[in-house]
Amino acid sequence: MNEQVHSDIPSIDLDLSVRIGELIMPNPVGVASGCFGYGEEYDELVHIDALGALYTKAVTLEPRQGNPAPRLVETPMGLINSIGLANPGVERFLQEKLPLLRRRRCAVIINVAGSTEDEYAAVLERIEGHLSAIGTQQEERSGVDGYEINVSCPNVHRGGMSFGIDPVLIERLTRSLRGRTARPLILKLSPNVTDIADIARAAEAGGADAISCVNTVVGMVIDTEKLRPAIARGSGGLSGPAIRPIGVAATYKVSRAVQIPVIGVGGIARADDAIQYLLAGAQAIQIGTAIFTNPRTPHEVLDGIVGWMRRHAVKCVRDIGLMLQ
Ligand SMILES: Cc1cc2nc3c(=O)[nH]c(=O)nc-3n(C[C@H](O)[C@H](O)[C@H](O)COP(=O)(O)O)c2cc1C
Repeated sequence: MNEQVHSDIPSIDLDLSVRIGELIMPNPVGVASGCFGYGEEYDELVHIDALGALYTKAVTLEPRQGNPAPRLVETPMGLINSIGLANPGVERFLQEKLPLLRRRRCAVIINVAGSTEDEYAAVLERIEGHLSAIGTQQEERSGVDGYEINVSCPNVHRGGMSFGIDPVLIERLTRSLRGRTARPLILKLSPNVTDIADIARAAEAGGADAISCVNTVVGMVIDTEKLRPAIARGSGGLSGPAIRPIGVAATYKVSRAVQIPVIGVGGIARADDAIQYLLAGAQAIQIGTAIFTNPRTPHEVLDGIVGWMRRHAVKCVRDIGLMLQ
């Protein structure tokens, strides 16, 4: 498998392409899991085919209702969510969401979550089995260009982040998933750990093709009149501008600890934010929370990266990480 994904970005003299395993993304800008659904709600607002990659909402083995409301609260520099991986489950994903994803021209990365190692494996096996059964004609897209394994969700009792804090579990899980797919495998890590580089090295040892860095940071807001936490489950995951320095620092550390590409995520709202991640060593980036206030953010960020590369006479986006003094 050596899949070149094309986008509708006009051809330019710069090389914006990014390689993740065997997959070549047309540019480094993706939309982060959970902030873009499976793409369908944003069709009117965003030119999705001009993106580098669409990372879907998490897919689990069984449907999940998610956590009780309220599950979102704003903070001065971000958002705390406790969605709890609400999703229709892998069967409905395959029937209802995949046909639309197959029409996308950007890379489509399926975010996978589970409560146990077996559950992650079962989701991958079900998707791979389905893809083999339906087959793809030449030129037809499978709708699955890779998997992003969410071992970092702070909003579930079992699985999620409890995997992401243990290098032994991460290596074993990655190795088990590696045996089930030839498609790129991206491990999405939590910043809520003592040393994220240890976890990244374990994912690399298990056969991961890339690391997404980072998921949300555990946070809490308390309503001082109602005398209870502002979200029903108590704490949740903080995202948005407040976590950008955490994500940049984690990207810097992880990109120096592993040979595989790092995908930077956390608090990106402007091109300058994205370039900080690229300078820190990321090969690609994702944008999440900023999409809620401005759905055009990914396009503006991509335009800004191109402008910055021209101003700094950089021809290849993959070289930006070499420029940090
Ligand atoms: C409402 C919401 C839902 C999310 N759902 C998922 C998810 O299903 N899987 C996942 O790996 N990350 C999920 N995330 C985390 C984001 O993909 C991203 O890692 C995080 O929000 C940091 O990026 P940002 O500051 O640009 O939002 C979610 C984030 C938000 C705000």
